[in-house]
Amino acid sequence: MPENLDTQARSILKENDLGGYTIPTKGLYPYQWNWDSAFVARGFASFDLDRAWKEIETLFEGQWDDGMVPHIVFRKDDPSYFPGPAVWGTNQALPTSGHSQPPVVATVVRDIYEADREAGEARARALFPKILAWHRWFHRFRDPGGLGVIAVIHPWESGRDNTPDWDGPMRAVDTSNVKPYVRKDTSHVDPSMRPLKADYDRYLAIVDFGRSCGWDAEQVARDCPFFVADPGTTFILLRADRDLLALAQAFGEDEAAQEIQEWIERAETGAIKHLWSDEAEGFVSRDLRKNKLMDGISSASFLSVYAGISDEQTNAAFARQFDRIAEKVSYLMPSWDPEDSRFEHLRYWRGPVWAVVNSMIGRGLLEAGDLKRAERIRADTARLIETSGFAEYFSPVTGAGAGGGTFSWTAAVWLFFARHEIPQD
Ligand code: DGY
Repeated sequence: MPENLDTQARSILKENDLGGYTIPTKGLYPYQWNWDSAFVARGFASFDLDRAWKEIETLFEGQWDDGMVPHIVFRKDDPSYFPGPAVWGTNQALPTSGHSQPPVVATVVRDIYEADREAGEARARALFPKILAWHRWFHRFRDPGGLGVIAVIHPWESGRDNTPDWDGPMRAVDTSNVKPYVRKDTSHVDPSMRPLKADYDRYLAIVDFGRSCGWDAEQVARDCPFFVADPGTTFILLRADRDLLALAQAFGEDEAAQEIQEWIERAETGAIKHLWSDEAEGFVSRDLRKNKLMDGISSASFLSVYAGISDEQTNAAFARQFDRIAEKVSYLMPSWDPEDSRFEHLRYWRGPVWAVVNSMIGRGLLEAGDLKRAERIRADTARLIETSGFAEYFSPVTGAGAGGGTFSWTAAVWLFFARHEIPQD
């Protein structure tokens, strides 16, 4: 069985490869997506290191002068997706969207560099200043107050589009000027598995706002109606900063290393100070416009271990929350707390399991020496893929696959994470 799945996973990556860049899946997502490409590169690295580097290099062809690496690079117009390049109006030579996505790249670049230092040296060195500029952009424009936590200006920037985390802050987004539009996602996927129309109206209102200020990073950070510190992006960037620091040290980039070290220290204290909730007993998001902590546990809460956050209080709560949720579902890790009334087991980021998030939590647990929990989440991911194929996401209750099929990042997660049992000694 695993060999067969290996072959299928590699075929999916190859079929979704449009020539140096990979789309998440045909129809639903016909362009290059930022964090998808990072995970896809890890998948390629399991059988073709050269192709893995290429995936990251093509992603950075879309980088902006201010350092931002956009969440979508639109290489050619494809009517099967909405909102396309014209809606974003970003005026880049290579059309892109106007905001970013969780920065998994530095971690992946370190992985593929360390897999073969000789083959990767020149390519990693060429990417290093570009990744540094991107991280600098995050720290400057998504943490303008220097709190050590990273905000997102759009639910799409977090990658967790319709998580209940955003329900409250999104109410502040005025949709009265949104022009009529036609969604494409619901003609590819069962609408009951996708965000609601009310969500889409707000998604588009924020895009209209960004376009109206020419996507100027400073103005967006200052005036965007939605500006919420996200545990997912904060933890992924903290982890990526640690990996970027290792690259800086390997390349003798002392000044950069100093700068990155400061980001890391700020995030370590900032996350606990601003995202920890005693009430929720976990890391939650914080609406920075209202300075209000949200109240729910999501799969992003568990990324603290991937970020290397470790202290007595948060470790004990992590274990309690993990075990509580593990008893409530058949498959970890649901994207939203299954005991919360807002949980929906098939609706996108309001409950389903996402293999990429599992891979990050599992990796963090393994590195922290929690082999039992690491193996539980690894084995659940493998069972989901074995039972329901390479779906976009899965029900944590029934294990059914949902969303798009033959999904690149699920195939990649199989190859670099799910297929490898974690020894228990
Ligand atoms: C979508 O179109 O659903 C994407 O998640 C945006 O990135």
